[in-house]
Amino acid sequence: MKIVIIGGSGLIGSKVVAKLGQHGHEAVAASPKTGVDTLTAAGLADVLNGASVVVDVSNSPSFEDAPVMQFFTTSTRNLLEYEAAAGVGHHVALSVVGTERLAEGSGYLRAKLAQERLIKDSAMPYSIVHATQFFEFVKSIADGATVDGVVRLPPVLFQPMAAEDVATTVARAAAGPPLNGTIEIAGPDRFRFDELVRQALRARNDPREVIADPHARYFGAELSEGSLVPDGDARLGAIHFADWLREPVPART
Ligand SMILES: NC(=O)c1ccc[n+]([C@@H]2O[C@H](COP(=O)([O-])OP(=O)(O)OC[C@H]3O[C@@H](n4cnc5c(N)ncnc54)[C@H](OP(=O)(O)O)[C@@H]3O)[C@@H](O)[C@H]2O)c1
Repeated sequence: MKIVIIGGSGLIGSKVVAKLGQHGHEAVAASPKTGVDTLTAAGLADVLNGASVVVDVSNSPSFEDAPVMQFFTTSTRNLLEYEAAAGVGHHVALSVVGTERLAEGSGYLRAKLAQERLIKDSAMPYSIVHATQFFEFVKSIADGATVDGVVRLPPVLFQPMAAEDVATTVARAAAGPPLNGTIEIAGPDRFRFDELVRQALRARNDPREVIADPHARYFGAELSEGSLVPDGDARLGAIHFADWLREPVPART
């Protein structure tokens, strides 16, 4: 089956391309690096020709409110339009656990919610995968929460997961029938947000102090105890944070 992975050069996308290829699919990575731009629709008609499934694991180059909203809405509209014209039968998208709870306070999650709504409101059969934060993203979280060399994070529940486990679920969703619904995935262990980031920084010899601050914001949103963790049944990844930390540092962390 021809499966086009939009954002196929990215952290999750490159893993999804590899996994689908290993399972005998024609997995085609598409992104600006391969001449496909979902914002302008350049290259879309060509790459979608003959495709059965599209996986969207792209991300906005900017996380500022206006450009991120523009990215996820324009890209998703273009994708859905070109997919319908090409006879694609399944759109798979990756979003974030808690998007609907946190959209009011966070421009990024407002844009992800808009992306999800466009998909759900379209005629295209779809599957949405809601993942918790990736282990690989923890350093960026710490950087974003640092003021004067001190990291401030709310001590709420946190259940991050390995990009590898995220990619496995996304690839399985792409190879299966459309769910016309959302599945949630999370890491195998629950932590306190500040505690996990403290552990991660220590393991990388990062000297920053991490302070538990209940009012510190995350991507603009004030968090409550369960904001970032699944509130119902979620599939759990296999890779534990402690084991992931022992692996060599990947290039992106
Ligand atoms: N970070 C987290 O903890 C987390 C948690 C849950 C869900 N997610 C979601 O996971 C998804 C993937 O994240 P990631 O970290 O794997 O992303 P990433 O590594 O930053 O990769 C982004 C990808 O998007 C592509 N892209 C950028 N602009 C594009 C455009 N105009 N048209 C087509 N493709 C474009 C990039 O292509 P080039 O390389 O060619 O520029 C790249 O392949 C995101 O949608 C994010 O919301 C993230």
